[in-house]
Amino acid sequence: MRKKTKYNVAVVGVGAVGIEMLRCLKDRKFPVAELRVLARSAREIDVDGQKYQVQAISAEAFEKIDIALFAGTEGEKGAAVQFAPEAVKRGAIVIDNGADFRMDPDVPLVVPEVNAKKIKKNKGIIANPNCSTIQMVVALAPIRKAIGLKRVIVTTLQASSGAGKAAVDQLKEELKIIASGDYQNIQADLANKVMPQQLAYNVFPQIGGFSDNDFTTEEWKLVKETHKILGDDKIKVSATTVRVPVRTGHSEAVYIETKKPIEPDALKKLLAESPGIIVIDDPKRGLYPMPKDVEGKTETYVGRIRKDPYVKNGFWFWVVADNLLKGAASNAVQIAEELIR
Ligand SMILES: NC(=O)c1ccc[n+]([C@@H]2O[C@H](COP(=O)([O-])OP(=O)(O)OC[C@H]3O[C@@H](n4cnc5c(N)ncnc54)[C@H](OP(=O)(O)O)[C@@H]3O)[C@@H](O)[C@H]2O)c1
Repeated sequence: MRKKTKYNVAVVGVGAVGIEMLRCLKDRKFPVAELRVLARSAREIDVDGQKYQVQAISAEAFEKIDIALFAGTEGEKGAAVQFAPEAVKRGAIVIDNGADFRMDPDVPLVVPEVNAKKIKKNKGIIANPNCSTIQMVVALAPIRKAIGLKRVIVTTLQASSGAGKAAVDQLKEELKIIASGDYQNIQADLANKVMPQQLAYNVFPQIGGFSDNDFTTEEWKLVKETHKILGDDKIKVSATTVRVPVRTGHSEAVYIETKKPIEPDALKKLLAESPGIIVIDDPKRGLYPMPKDVEGKTETYVGRIRKDPYVKNGFWFWVVADNLLKGAASNAVQIAEELIR
């Protein structure tokens, strides 16, 4: 991409992630010449008191766009499949938040703290990994680099906003129904149901559909995307992904086996000194990362770092990040910043 002082930027989608994209561009002072906001339908939206005119998406809407940040829905009728190639054809570089292109060998899958160098290899499309993968690899990458990684077992506790704005609305509606005390079956009373199960007062171990070997699609994303980002498909990654009634902020209980030994204090130091990570780990004083505290933050938070007493080189830790920011919008804008650097 040609170096300029300011760039024409398109944001596609104004749902949970798209709104955060608009905030990130503004907060991080991205050098925007013209901003085009695109979604399925045209309207005016208000974000923190600032009005944005949303245009209905079309191929022509990408004329003269330098960078297109996609946060539309996935799949054949989604924004990226339909319009990312159109944007590229017109000279834009696309940074896509969805899963449609992530495993394409021609598409770099980027977490800037880990593999920013891959950005240069783009052929027009760069993919943002899945939210649960991003925060996990931010923590895994420095460990792998320092002492090697043999195995990762992760259980995620994923917030409702990870499934988009409609899922947050469903959680709010369920909580209202519960507060009213007047219900037989919350699910039956819901006006808009997008989650596969009741979320308020509940957790459920299903994110995405069920796929190979009875793992969910979300669980396979954690495996395959981690392999691609770290460039190492020998690491034995295995996941259980769980939806929890949190608004925003994914948590992960991560178990690792490293190749070389390390003392817990040295592991804490290694993580604390690694890019994009904040370690909060003083459990006796009740200090560890929690989603309510990381909402609105762009870093990845790690705590509860401890050695497995039974397994050589086995460790547990706890990783929390804002799924709409580090898990999506701020990671995408960070990629855009690297692109223009
Ligand atoms: N939520 C997260 O934590 C998270 C994290 C990482 C990645 N992602 C990915 O980011 C993307 C957006 O997620 P989200 O949570 O923001 O979803 P969302 O809240 O459901 O919002 C989706 C937005 O995309 C727009 N859209 C849908 N289909 C479109 C199309 N064909 N053309 C143009 N715009 C279209 C919608 O437009 P209208 O408003 O006009 O209907 C809406 O504004 C998804 O691919 C998701 O998998 C999400």
